[in-house]
Amino acid sequence: MAVTPSAWSPSSWRSWDAYQQPPWPDEKRRAAVVGRLAEMPPLVFAGEARQLLASLASVAEGRAFVLQAGDCAESFHDTSARAIREKLRILLQMAVVLTYGSALPVVKVGRIAGQFAKPRSSPIERVGDEDITSFFGHMVNSEVPAAEARLPDPDRMLQGYDQSARTLNLLRAFAKGGFANITRVHEWNQEFVASSAEGRRYERLATEIDRALGFMAACGIDLAAEQRLYQVDVWTSHEGLLLDYEEGLTRRDSLTGEWYDCSAHMIWIGERTRQAAGAHVEFFSGVKNPVGCKLGPTATPGEVEELCERLNPQRVPGRLTLIARLGAGRVHDVLPALLCAARTAEHPVVWVCDPMHANTVKTDSGVKTRRFDVIMAEVEAFFATCHAEGVWPGGVHLEFTGEDVTECLGGAEEVLEEQLHARYMTLCDPRLNARQSLDLAFRVAELMRQPAGQDSAAAS
Ligand code: PEP
Ligand code: CO
Repeated sequence: MAVTPSAWSPSSWRSWDAYQQPPWPDEKRRAAVVGRLAEMPPLVFAGEARQLLASLASVAEGRAFVLQAGDCAESFHDTSARAIREKLRILLQMAVVLTYGSALPVVKVGRIAGQFAKPRSSPIERVGDEDITSFFGHMVNSEVPAAEARLPDPDRMLQGYDQSARTLNLLRAFAKGGFANITRVHEWNQEFVASSAEGRRYERLATEIDRALGFMAACGIDLAAEQRLYQVDVWTSHEGLLLDYEEGLTRRDSLTGEWYDCSAHMIWIGERTRQAAGAHVEFFSGVKNPVGCKLGPTATPGEVEELCERLNPQRVPGRLTLIARLGAGRVHDVLPALLCAARTAEHPVVWVCDPMHANTVKTDSGVKTRRFDVIMAEVEAFFATCHAEGVWPGGVHLEFTGEDVTECLGGAEEVLEEQLHARYMTLCDPRLNARQSLDLAFRVAELMRQPAGQDSAAAS
């Protein structure tokens, strides 16, 4: 099919090839669910998506940094306030480390309140001597490895909407209602983190922030009147994989008359569904939210140019974030040409590094994991290449959890291979635990402080 943007509508994607869509067993029920979603209140407002767009525009211009992080797959089993609070806590800790370290605003975007659908490399999984549907995330089916549990159920999209609404409600309360108050910076250090080397380093930084606040107060600045010290903006994002769900939540903004996907502030297109002539690119070309697109190691400069044209023909700064997930060893070879392609075509891209998804390995005993040092190596290579090309390294995209899990190997407080099974809790990909995340934030802050051209591993 030719890539010609014809009449876009929230359902125009249906006449394009849609990859990774679940084989919904009952067409009538699927259509009924999309209809129900269309009647639900929006989860986010168009005006909020525009605020995020403005913040991302500063990133595109090199005046801010994005921290996008959260679960690989959120779970219907874990709906507790505690889990949401712990995720926010580590996000705030990392953001404070990055902001203090770089003296730049950090745009905080969670993989949260909607990250329930997963693309799979195979639609089928072999269990015993049976082939069953793969697990596509809780918005599609259950993770239980049995044929019936794996049957896609469209009602799960309604459940996903409900859980997203509850999560978002609490997130807003935490972000605006006192938990994110900078004068509580010490309280974000969880016990199991505080006792570690990076936890102590964080404690010292928190004390410096206290002193800086004390200094400002002593200078006569009325801190109580500075709302920005007590509240933060935490934006939501997820992979826009299930186009039925995204279509159902798309609304025309009454102020501007433009279409917005009101399932999240930002939505990204995954590596497996980024075909320029595919349904996902068609759908996201028509909504005005900030959108992201993953780029794996096979991405070509031509594809980058095509994606930029399809997703951001007006060249609006902040509209398009390209998330490179190339693999630590591939960045130096692949990234320069991709950066060049966008720059030559004069597209204002926010360049973000996802150092997780191309660095997944299996241990000898078959456990999916990622090594902290390899993750860090991809981030370092990303910074070095961006610096060498004169492009702003705009942010990082991570999979983490606030819990004390043992899913990724290494880190300052090392997780060893024989410890992996101790607290391996992810529904999908291995996540950094809170200590490893904090460790990474300190290292990224150091990279941000290095002026361009002074990288330890300069691109050659
Ligand atoms: C993800 O972000 O969880 C994911 C599946 O990423 P990618 O599309 O980059 O493989
Ligand atoms: Co993942």
